[in-house]
Amino acid sequence: MTIFECKTCGHVEFNAAPEMCLVCRSPRTAFHENAAAIKQPADPASLTDGDKKHIPVIKVTTCGLIADCTDVHAIVGGIVHVMDVKHFIQYLDFYLDYKFISRIWLAPEACKPAASLHLAVKKGVITVVEHCNVHGNWMAEVTL
Ligand SMILES: [Fe+2]
Repeated sequence: MTIFECKTCGHVEFNAAPEMCLVCRSPRTAFHENAAAIKQPADPASLTDGDKKHIPVIKVTTCGLIADCTDVHAIVGGIVHVMDVKHFIQYLDFYLDYKFISRIWLAPEACKPAASLHLAVKKGVITVVEHCNVHGNWMAEVTL
C-alpha cells in the first residue's frame, strides 16, 4: 500500500494522492509519496510500551442511538496515551476502504485520546490514523 502525505498539513492518503487535500485544500501537487509518514513498530510481534501508547485500538459495536448503524471506536492505545498540553493526541483520521471519511480533533486536558464514528456501512476496511504531536502518525485497521 502506498502512502501519500500532504506536505502542507501532514494529512495522509492511501494508494493515490487526491485531487485536493481533504483537510487543508492544498492541490494534488502538495502530496508526496512517503512510506515513513506512518510509524511502524520495530517488532510487531513484541510491541514496546511506546508502540502500545500510540497504536490505536479499534472496537466495533452496534449503535445504541441510531437504527441500522455501526459504531467504530478508536482508543489510543493499548496503554492509554497522555493528553498533556506538551504531549497529546491531536486528531484521529478515519478511512473506509482506504478513502478518508473523517477527522476528529482532540484538545489536550479536556479530551481523552479516543474518538468514535457512526457508520452507515456494514462492510469494509476501517483504518484509523492517530497523530501524536511528539511521536507522529500511527495506524490500525479492522475489517467490518
Ligand atoms: Fe506520544
